[in-house]
Amino acid sequence: MNTSPKKVRVPDLALMKEQGERIVMLTAYDATMTRLFDRAGIDLLLVGDSLGNVILGLDTTVPVTLDDIIHHTRAVTRAASRALVVADMPFLTYQVSADEAMRNAARLFQEGGAAAVKLEGGSAIANTVRRLVAAGLPVMGHLGLTPQHVHRLGGMRQQARTDKAALELISDALALEDAGAFAIVIEAVPDAVAEEVTARLKIPTIGIGAGPHCDGQVLVSYDVLGLFDRFVPPFVKQYAQLGETILNAAKNYAEEVRNGEFPPSAVARRDVFSLSPSLPHRSPTKVGEGERAGERGPFAPASLNSTAVGPG
Ligand code: KIV
Repeated sequence: MNTSPKKVRVPDLALMKEQGERIVMLTAYDATMTRLFDRAGIDLLLVGDSLGNVILGLDTTVPVTLDDIIHHTRAVTRAASRALVVADMPFLTYQVSADEAMRNAARLFQEGGAAAVKLEGGSAIANTVRRLVAAGLPVMGHLGLTPQHVHRLGGMRQQARTDKAALELISDALALEDAGAFAIVIEAVPDAVAEEVTARLKIPTIGIGAGPHCDGQVLVSYDVLGLFDRFVPPFVKQYAQLGETILNAAKNYAEEVRNGEFPPSAVARRDVFSLSPSLPHRSPTKVGEGERAGERGPFAPASLNSTAVGPG
């Protein structure tokens, strides 16, 4: 298993396919989660335009902007030390012209710090992929269910279900490989189609809802962690129920604040505060509360007086 601290680079992925080593990819949108995924040995982190759904509360990925992706890519690249960071190119940032795609992709590398970009589409964007790759920008393709095409596809449904559509997908995959893409995400297609594409390509396929025969797997991290409950695709496995954990933590906090259990008195706390002798002593605002009011007596700012100041 390739979980050594050695940074994952684009050429490593072809090698992993050659050696039959499965590639592990997750989406990431912020620095804290990225640090954890990096420590867990996730090979590729995708700053996906799925952030439209799970971070921004949008119904589709179509309204996600280049600035949105750059903003989150910066956070992820600051925190990733091993994983290779791929940034999604949002809707209409690469379809208008290859020149525009170059300029937009360059921002993801220069401002976001991405090591690669991902584009949705096959033969129709092959020339653009060729231009980006020729300029030194690694490109990951994305075929099958391509969420930026949700309106044309008529919803988030499985693709390549007929022989004709499967052949089209295979030909798109070959076109992307020929254009220089270093890997292709294959989303929501029958297992047999993903298996056939994987067998025909030299570059790795990364499946999502495409069965076990791809060279790697990707999932939206909020799905994996049980954080996003508005819609859970049938192919997702939830490895945790963090939504429940967070809900319970927030409820407990609210209850303890409301009933006065939190924060504890200075006596019970380890971060002992003392009133600076130079500050005027303020009496407790409410009298008649007995012990609790007395404990809240000195109102010295933590930054001035705490002997153990830390986060939280
Ligand atoms: O935006 C995204 O998260 C994606 C993955 C689902 C592959 O494209």
